[in-house]
Amino acid sequence: MKLAFIGTGYVGLVTGVCMAELGHTVVCADIDTRKIALLKRGVMPIYEMGLEDLVEKNVSEGRLTFTTSISKAIKESDVVFSAVGTPEDKKTGKADLQYVYTVAETFAKNLNNYKILVNKSTVPVGTADKCRDIILHASKGAKEFDVVSNPEFLREGAAIKDFLNPDRVVVGVASEKAKVAMEKIYRPIARAGRPVIVTDIRSAELIKYASNAFLATKITFINEIANFCEKTGANVKEVAKGMGADSRIGSRFLYAGIGYGGSCFPKDVQALIETGKEYGHKFQIIESADKVNDAQKLRPITFLKKHFKSLKGKKIAVWGLSFKPRTDDVREAPALYVIDALLQAGARIIAFDPVAEEAFKEAFSDKRVKYAKNAYAATEDADALLVMTEWDEFRSAEYSELASRMKNRVIVDGRNIFERKEAEAEGFVYYGIGV
Ligand code: UDX
Repeated sequence: MKLAFIGTGYVGLVTGVCMAELGHTVVCADIDTRKIALLKRGVMPIYEMGLEDLVEKNVSEGRLTFTTSISKAIKESDVVFSAVGTPEDKKTGKADLQYVYTVAETFAKNLNNYKILVNKSTVPVGTADKCRDIILHASKGAKEFDVVSNPEFLREGAAIKDFLNPDRVVVGVASEKAKVAMEKIYRPIARAGRPVIVTDIRSAELIKYASNAFLATKITFINEIANFCEKTGANVKEVAKGMGADSRIGSRFLYAGIGYGGSCFPKDVQALIETGKEYGHKFQIIESADKVNDAQKLRPITFLKKHFKSLKGKKIAVWGLSFKPRTDDVREAPALYVIDALLQAGARIIAFDPVAEEAFKEAFSDKRVKYAKNAYAATEDADALLVMTEWDEFRSAEYSELASRMKNRVIVDGRNIFERKEAEAEGFVYYGIGV
């Protein structure tokens, strides 16, 4: 079976390359000529562990090609995966679907034989039906086709592993023909013992949003418990350990901190709330999770203001800018909000991130933020150290090194990477999240 991927962003590229690795013939198409030129030269436009090697291998074995001609890619394929962006419309909070609909139109124009259009992008429930209407209208019903929903659940930094060894694959179909084709595509995954769950289209579309909103709520739940731990003297790490041992709860995604960020959770939570409104449904739990998370991002400001009263002129060393470790992605990173609030309060910022400095500068152009060459250099003469991202190299920091550099021994640990007892024994004032 020949597969086309439209959109070589994070999802399209990783999924396309992994499909080639499963043995399919894959063409990855994008209108961005720069991206395709890079890919043809074997240069990755994004950073994802292991991706470059897989691209090289599958290109050399003849299963993977790149093109800027979307029409050609569609004409020559049996199954067309749409993996274009669905950014959040900042005014409405809804997912902006213009690129998804454009792919549906282009698909219709190049429908030279039976084909399947697979929505990989995260799209609100009902979008596949709208795509089907667009194709029917544009192709005037001349050729048979199917629209399928096949949401992705890849985590940045672990995307290849997640693709090849998923907890589950979800496929929403409206015909037996589409079901058979999709099961064939995912046969190597099913053979490896991973479940391929086939549902109706609308359920598949909702599974994606419900899963992300649930995980976002789970994180928010433990953050709320953490905030209560601070008031009661309990320790959220112990509480999470005890809760997580219950197999109905599970220990994953119970790490308290300064809130979730990234390209998915914040956007998907917003989009689900907005889709709810369209259907006259109010998501009370999810709306609360969203609000609590917004406040959680700013917990470090509360601690710093409590400690210093005024932050004017205070020098704050910020460790970590990306929304999570092992990525340079700063989309909706808590660091964006916290640094903004610190600058507004008159603080001086010297930041360090192992890989995200450039991405952060692009997203946050304020020249008042200074950057250090390494983690320790950021703490030189600092009034406080603020940990925003749990990079491994921060975990092994030596207190003595910090003490010799910092003006004040104050740590605000937004990701609970240090131990309060150890920090206090070294003469630091320690603020953690619920510990
Ligand atoms: C997420 C989903 O996991 C994935 O299934 C979906 O397809 C895309 O969105 P990703 O955005 O890569 O993946 O990040 P993830 O590792 O899930 O973390 C999301 C955010 O939650 C990060 O900001 C992380 O720091 C935070 N988090 C995660 C916590 O604060 N505590 C936790 O226990 C887990």
